[in-house]
Amino acid sequence: MSKRGLTFICQNCGAAYNRWQGKCEACGDWNTLSEEGADRPAGPGRKPGKGRLFKLEDLAGDATDAPRIASGIGELDRVTGGGFVKGSVLLLGGDPGIGKSTLLIQATAALARLGQRAVYISGEEAVAQVRLRAERLGLREAAVELASETSVEDIIATLSEGKTPKLIVIDSIQTMWTDTVESAPGTVTQVRGAAQALIRFAKRTGAAIILVGHVTKDGQIAGPRVVEHMVDAVLSFEGEGSHQFRILRAVKNRFGPTDEIGVFEMTGAGLCEVTNPSALFLSERDLGQPGTAVFAGMEGTRPLLVEIQALVAPSTLGTPRRSVVGWDSSRLSMVLAVLEAHCGVRLGGHDVYLNVAGGMRIQEPAADIAAAAALVSSLVDAPLPPQAVYFGEVSLSGAVRPVAQAGSRLKEAAKLGFTAAVVPESARESGDPGLRTTEIGNLASLVADIAARGRRKAAQSAGEDG
Ligand code: TYD
Ligand code: MG
Repeated sequence: MSKRGLTFICQNCGAAYNRWQGKCEACGDWNTLSEEGADRPAGPGRKPGKGRLFKLEDLAGDATDAPRIASGIGELDRVTGGGFVKGSVLLLGGDPGIGKSTLLIQATAALARLGQRAVYISGEEAVAQVRLRAERLGLREAAVELASETSVEDIIATLSEGKTPKLIVIDSIQTMWTDTVESAPGTVTQVRGAAQALIRFAKRTGAAIILVGHVTKDGQIAGPRVVEHMVDAVLSFEGEGSHQFRILRAVKNRFGPTDEIGVFEMTGAGLCEVTNPSALFLSERDLGQPGTAVFAGMEGTRPLLVEIQALVAPSTLGTPRRSVVGWDSSRLSMVLAVLEAHCGVRLGGHDVYLNVAGGMRIQEPAADIAAAAALVSSLVDAPLPPQAVYFGEVSLSGAVRPVAQAGSRLKEAAKLGFTAAVVPESARESGDPGLRTTEIGNLASLVADIAARGRRKAAQSAGEDG
């Protein structure tokens, strides 16, 4: 038996045990249990069986839209669903150095400029450091209230004075600690206790709070996955270290959509909004190279064009390599299997690399035929027409399935100067797209088409040589 009041808590998922053990049975992680003081029950002590009576309501009452505070940073407001909801708590996760603190100091400054009270509390950096960053961002004049504090009780006491802030940023939740729990700062119990206290403060006062959360190497918000369940929205800030693009994505949102993304570019003067991401993702295209196809995708309500690059090369390994960046690897395996089984494309002796340009991550199955086109184009060493876009889902039988919002995809492609599109059947029904569409019913016909390009190109170069 453990000592009274002490439990072993998994630092990954928050499951509690009364004995130490090597593996957490709840999440399967090893060596994540550590001994912590048990939570003291929150709220004033009450005798059991002595609850306060409350009134139950029916569904058909007045429902008003949640009051929101827009930051004025369009890409941020798009992801939150139109601004921060009063009294809500939002968790922002992301790799270290990705730009969380930068984004939030810009957001608080934007609100302060609108005359709202905005507070930025850093548990990681000294006030001077935050000021230095603000200076670099040209935000020195903004009336943001700053502090470097880690005690939740002190923070709540201070913020309860005067006018309630519209927005409070806590950077980061892992550095906060509360007196109500005995564990060390950074442990799950502390993080959960601190988050609970801040959430109660937000609900009581109507202030919107943003908690910054660190991310572990496998992309989870470190330790307190429990916090994800407690907050109203979870946003993740992503990007490849080598690229300037940053993508803000809603993972959970009680007050808005979860499929919208916000696109930013990290510059010397902070994060700039990217209002036309397609143009940015396509800006570094290698025109006329085999193995690239432009995918007309959707992110939420917004069409987004990205380049898919493939390299297919004879393998010297017993088991050829399959490597994919920015797309689902099981989706790639499926497309390869369909190419083998239904289109006569033999890839068993080839290494296959697939990459989504610009550090973008695609989640849509609609990218299937763009990926397949890029793969075959690389295999037969024939470039695809540079002014064409591709979209459509491939089924296991090799049929090309229609995808949602074909009209918006085609419109975006036409807007960016593309003149042709390879699409599933029935995609054209969505009105005049403004470009030439080729409808394909199955993947085999697309493959035959690209293979013919390859043969033409080979014949041409043979003709030139001879
Ligand atoms: P930061 O916001 O501190 O990241 P996080 O809080 O997520 O750890 O961002 C740090 C990185 O951003 C750092 O590598 C420098 C870069 N940066 C710029 O490129 N331009 C800028 O204007 C600022 C403030 C930071
Ligand atoms: Mg930071």
